[in-house]
Amino acid sequence: MSTRTPTKLLILGATGPTGRHVVDLALRGGDTVTVLARRPEALGDLADRVDVVAGDATSSDDVAKAVAGQEVVVSALGRSTSVRADDLFTRAATAVIGAAEEQGVSRLVWLSSFGVGDTYRSASAVQKVMYRTFLRNIYANKELSERAIRSSGLDWTLVYPTMLTKGPARGRYLVGERLPMKGNPAISRADVADFLYKAAHDPGWIHRDAVITD
Ligand SMILES: NC(=O)c1ccc[n+]([C@@H]2O[C@H](COP(=O)([O-])OP(=O)(O)OC[C@H]3O[C@@H](n4cnc5c(N)ncnc54)[C@H](OP(=O)(O)O)[C@@H]3O)[C@@H](O)[C@H]2O)c1
Repeated sequence: MSTRTPTKLLILGATGPTGRHVVDLALRGGDTVTVLARRPEALGDLADRVDVVAGDATSSDDVAKAVAGQEVVVSALGRSTSVRADDLFTRAATAVIGAAEEQGVSRLVWLSSFGVGDTYRSASAVQKVMYRTFLRNIYANKELSERAIRSSGLDWTLVYPTMLTKGPARGRYLVGERLPMKGNPAISRADVADFLYKAAHDPGWIHRDAVITD
């Protein structure tokens, strides 16, 4: 059982696999959970256990509604299998920063990808090839969104996982501001969610990057 102080938590990307794990952990931990979902029907039985705001994460109005009354925002937004960002991350970051600053909701935990921004420098040769080729468009948009987050007034944490798997939570993983990489390591979405949830309750991660891998 968690000993963390229950929090009013807004989760973006809750219908995705990592976001869904964060919702489960937060409910188990006693948090009051709100989700912003553009397809609320995809929440299934979760819809009865969380507050649902139907809307799009790139809409300032929808995000402002969802941010109202929250203490922490966690983003697990993503483009699923698409290799095009479609400006999702920059548009969502703009909406979240605007709403959170306006409403005095300072804490933001934002899921990125290892290899974005400065983390690229410590990537292995194999990882660099992927980041420069098929992930290039997504990564460029993520980097821009993260520049905006870093220069905002928010208490952000940016989380950089290596390749994600569908495996179970092991509860043991490496996390640090910089981690040396070899080959193409991975981590389960369940373990990434464990860290997102912990960081959301831990002020020790404010204004820090967290690289995370198995
Ligand atoms: N795959 C990897 O190996 C890997 C590695 C490192 C980092 N990552 C990053 O980890 C993150 C999570 O990945 P994942 O595979 O768990 O999730 P995912 O399948 O990418 O799910 C993304 C979530 O974002 C939501 N979303 C997308 N656009 C939205 C919008 N405009 N408004 C509201 N919601 C929106 C989706 O909602 P819908 O259900 O409505 O689509 C879904 O809930 C992503 O940012 C990904 O880039 C992935």
